[in-house]
Amino acid sequence: MAELVDKILLEIERLNEADSLELSRLLAVNHQSVVGAIKSLQSLGDIIKVEDVQNKRWELTEEGNSILKNGSHEALVYQAIPNDGIVQAQLMATVPNAKVGFSKAMSAGWIKVDKNCEGGSRVFRQVESIKDAVKECLEKIANLGIGDVTDTEKNEYKKRKLITEVKETSYKIKKGENFTTTVSKPQIDLTPEMISSGSWKTTQFKPYNFQALGAPVTTGHLHPLLKVREQYRQIFLEMGFSEMPTNNYVESSFWNFDALFQPQQHPARDAHDTFFISDPATASAFPMDYLEKVKEVHSIGGYGSQGYKYDWKLEEAEKNILRTHTTAVSARMLYKLAQEKEFRPVKYFSIDRVFRNENLDATHLAEFQQIEGVVADRGLTLGDLMGTINQFFCKLGITNLRFKPAYNPYTEPSLKKWVEIGNSGVFRPELLLPMGLPKDVSVIAWGLSLERPTMIKYAIDNIRDLVGPKVNLKMVYDNPLCRLEK
Ligand code: PHE
Repeated sequence: MAELVDKILLEIERLNEADSLELSRLLAVNHQSVVGAIKSLQSLGDIIKVEDVQNKRWELTEEGNSILKNGSHEALVYQAIPNDGIVQAQLMATVPNAKVGFSKAMSAGWIKVDKNCEGGSRVFRQVESIKDAVKECLEKIANLGIGDVTDTEKNEYKKRKLITEVKETSYKIKKGENFTTTVSKPQIDLTPEMISSGSWKTTQFKPYNFQALGAPVTTGHLHPLLKVREQYRQIFLEMGFSEMPTNNYVESSFWNFDALFQPQQHPARDAHDTFFISDPATASAFPMDYLEKVKEVHSIGGYGSQGYKYDWKLEEAEKNILRTHTTAVSARMLYKLAQEKEFRPVKYFSIDRVFRNENLDATHLAEFQQIEGVVADRGLTLGDLMGTINQFFCKLGITNLRFKPAYNPYTEPSLKKWVEIGNSGVFRPELLLPMGLPKDVSVIAWGLSLERPTMIKYAIDNIRDLVGPKVNLKMVYDNPLCRLEK
């Protein structure tokens, strides 16, 4: 394009003025390209002056072109006649467009018909030679547009549909105020170099287009789960909770189950429900005096409990698994808390991944994120649990809660909500006292999944659209910020 623009400017310089059709011929470039180059020159300020010109031009029709190639219909009829004439019917059957050709050749006096011949009417040539004026005339039109063709001829050929008139706009170009043969593209940005060299004074700048859309900024995008997680985290922080370190997906059965007073025969500890690690298959370095107490409370009881009365085995507790809940971390944190010299109340939360050997379907994956809250203080009651959970869900915009008992080995009573959104309870003394927490300390805790509220929030009904290889990245890019109604 730039090259064509330069060529056009050089032609204008030479000719002072030129028509775009003429330029197209001179530069051997199609007219449309010349027009494009002219338009781009026009946008650069007053370099050229442009005027529209309406042109009419004659062009051969398809039939006209075939005459140009093969001769007129009348000439073809004439040429098809041998010296001794031809039967009219045969002539009419062999020559294309014979009807027109015959009548034209007759009126031109090129041929004659003898009706009284043997075998029917016979056609003879009447002149020695002919001049195919139609073909010659069409040649002129084809080469020169219209040339010196007379109006009569033009009208006749138009009537015979050998030529048609085409209208075409071309542009007459003259030099403008700022005519130059070297156009430089206007600059878009002022650069430090232009300032230091002073070239900005003479540089042409492209005017700003304030209507233009900005180029989209490339940024990272948070997955909806991360956005919702952030909202939950915010709620916990507002409520004065601090985050637990959940950066260990691999956990020992001891912390995941035994410490939580979950008996070793419990079905959740089966490979059908839990992923066991093969390498390293077992964990070690347990706090041994605490482990002894856990063993005791399981097998013979204590702290007012009769325990489960079975043969507790270290081998079972040593088994490494992918943690099935973040409550394993809560257990570690409570144990740690119990080791402090003096008890202090705590409010902990975590939001992280847990793993279960589930049958995969539209709402279940083998891993999900668990949201968990834990409060430890002296004299906490079921009322505190319900109050705290109420406050937590209120901040999510869920105000109408019902509490209903359900089973957890480690809490008492265990509660579930209508829609299975969360699970909660007060930790049993069999769990807290072996850790060494004071007798009057109670711990309330609750847990829910991050995926379910996210799916509701983002109207995603198949968990595979939210997590895993089938996630549409566009969904991640396009999804809005998460705002949980308050
Ligand atoms: N660990 C429970 C679960 O996985 C959640 C929970 C946490 C329940 C704390 C009660 C107390 O469903």
